[in-house]
Amino acid sequence: MHTVTLSPGGQTFQVEDDESVLTAALRSGLVIPYGCKNGACGSCKGKIISGSVDYGVYQEKALPAAEREQGKALFCQAKPLTDCVLEARLVGKAGDIQVKTLPCRIHKLAKVTHDVMVLHLKLPASERLQFLAGQYLEFLLRDGTRRSFSMGNAPHDDELVEIHVRHVPGGQFTDHVFGKMKEKDILRFEAPLGTFFLREDSEKPIVFVASGTGFAPIKSIIEHALHKQITRPMTLFWGGRRPHDLYLHELAQKWATHYAAFFDYVPVISDALPEDGWKGRTGFVHRAVMDDFPDLSGYQVYACGVPIMVDSARADFLSKCKLPEDEFYADSFTTAADLAKP
Ligand SMILES: Cc1cc2nc3c(=O)[nH]c(=O)nc-3n(C[C@H](O)[C@H](O)[C@H](O)COP(=O)(O)OP(=O)(O)OC[C@H]3O[C@@H](n4cnc5c(N)ncnc54)[C@H](O)[C@@H]3O)c2cc1C
Ligand code: FES
Repeated sequence: MHTVTLSPGGQTFQVEDDESVLTAALRSGLVIPYGCKNGACGSCKGKIISGSVDYGVYQEKALPAAEREQGKALFCQAKPLTDCVLEARLVGKAGDIQVKTLPCRIHKLAKVTHDVMVLHLKLPASERLQFLAGQYLEFLLRDGTRRSFSMGNAPHDDELVEIHVRHVPGGQFTDHVFGKMKEKDILRFEAPLGTFFLREDSEKPIVFVASGTGFAPIKSIIEHALHKQITRPMTLFWGGRRPHDLYLHELAQKWATHYAAFFDYVPVISDALPEDGWKGRTGFVHRAVMDDFPDLSGYQVYACGVPIMVDSARADFLSKCKLPEDEFYADSFTTAADLAKP
């Protein structure tokens, strides 16, 4: 067992042998930033000020060799080999909510486009899921593995939990969702998880960037902000290959019409076919953000979706658009295939 001290806050906690820094911190009620929990997204990266760790198994792009040499590590993977002092900010609000394991029943399954299913989950009558808009849950599968999905409903709208599932062909869980799953089936999940949520203590204007089902947590955040009558300027960029990938396009258009004074919506399509008759913006969604917001120095950005989009957005917004590093919030939708990459 080793003792970890966080800097600059000074909080300490014990890490069992063979336990990651993140697991031990969460067990002690201390929430540090994280996303995928499996070495693929980079959200949990922090600095080792003193001590040494086993870096664990991770993807090179989440922790490039140069950053490791500068003393950085991924705290979801790193296991202390000695007592350590680690640089990590605590994420206050996320730690206030108890993480629960709950059963749920599939209340409704709706296929909203060829590869996206919207699930509505009903909890036992005595339960409500408390969470921060933008957080995710993990379905607990029978074989002991877990699958992450973000809540698409806002926390106040808590009668049913809404999940947007993109079909990953060959994927165990999503093949099941698109094949055999039916209403009234029972699942179990753990929630709420993650540190992707709206920072309400800021007045800065917001740019949201979503690709595909990355729209789910962003929908939750936007509906929460509208419910709380937050009127910070907000621009939503939603990208897909073809127009049908923007499976709730009308909802986003409705926000832009109703809240035109502070809300704007920019749909962006990368691979439209002539028969789509697409007349809107084209190309990569994060590029559209850079065209419209060449200077992001005064903004907060919330990005969610496929890892390639989130990684490109982070790299380009920080290096080319002056976005401060600590104003980029993201959840990267990694899968088992991403982890298999070197
Ligand atoms: C924080 C977070 C939030 C997320 N939120 C959402 C969301 O709201 N909506 C959403 O649609 N997705 C979301 N995702 C992504 C989602 O979790 C994955 O798409 C899902 O877990 C895939 O599950 P699966 O069982 O269908 O696929 P898996 O069985 O996990 O497989 C995924 C892919 O990897 C391949 N594969 C499996 N094992 C290997 C291997 N060993 N080597 C090579 N390839 C392999 C499979 O063939 C398949 O193509 C989120 C991910 C994270 C991390
Ligand atoms: S949470 Fe550690 S790399 Fe994603």
